[in-house]
Amino acid sequence: MRVLIVFGTTEGHTREICHFAADVLRKAGHTATTEEAARDSADVQIGAYDVVLLAGSLHIGRYQPGLVRFAQARADELNAKPSAFISVSLSAAGENPDDWECLEDCLARFEHETGWTPHQVHKAEGAIKYSQYDFFKRLALKHIAAKRGQATVTSRDYDLTDYDAVRAFVLDFVRADRGPAVLSDPR
Ligand SMILES: Cc1cc2nc3c(=O)[nH]c(=O)nc-3n(C[C@H](O)[C@H](O)[C@H](O)COP(=O)(O)O)c2cc1C
Repeated sequence: MRVLIVFGTTEGHTREICHFAADVLRKAGHTATTEEAARDSADVQIGAYDVVLLAGSLHIGRYQPGLVRFAQARADELNAKPSAFISVSLSAAGENPDDWECLEDCLARFEHETGWTPHQVHKAEGAIKYSQYDFFKRLALKHIAAKRGQATVTSRDYDLTDYDAVRAFVLDFVRADRGPAVLSDPR
């Protein structure tokens, strides 16, 4: 199976998850190509792949603008293929029902504004990378983490992602695929 993975990232964690997913797929015998959603993403040949995986992370309730633009611009091609979305966030790491509701709202808005409906969605827990934040981001994240019941110290980073769950999701996604729907010829 030829798998295309297109991601948006702000601090790099979603890139790491996508590279991990690509490794898992390659070890399982598939080919996997990763691309960061950017201005020149028009060059990405979606038609050259069997399935497409998109991934992005939440920042103040929004996924990366580059990823949104990519999904918007290529919605018809994406909808015509087996596709999946990995949503990375801190909400997914918590147990607060309000956070989970917010996450569902963010996903619904993403689907609505892009016009793309992934066949499968995985909600991956994100990371807290204090070492990469400026003063204000550090303060904001400490607050966000505390609100979600995650006691953190700013002297270290936290990777909350369940990589076994990511592995299981991507393998299930490519296994579940039976190829694009083939319409019977009416003639
Ligand atoms: C400034 C900032 C705002 C964030 N806002 C949200 C948010 O609204 N909801 C959420 O669940 N996680 C939020 N997060 C957590 C990120 O989704 C998480 O850190 C993720 O791992 C970032 O992935 P990236 O490195 O690929 O950008 C925020 C993180 C930062 C730094």
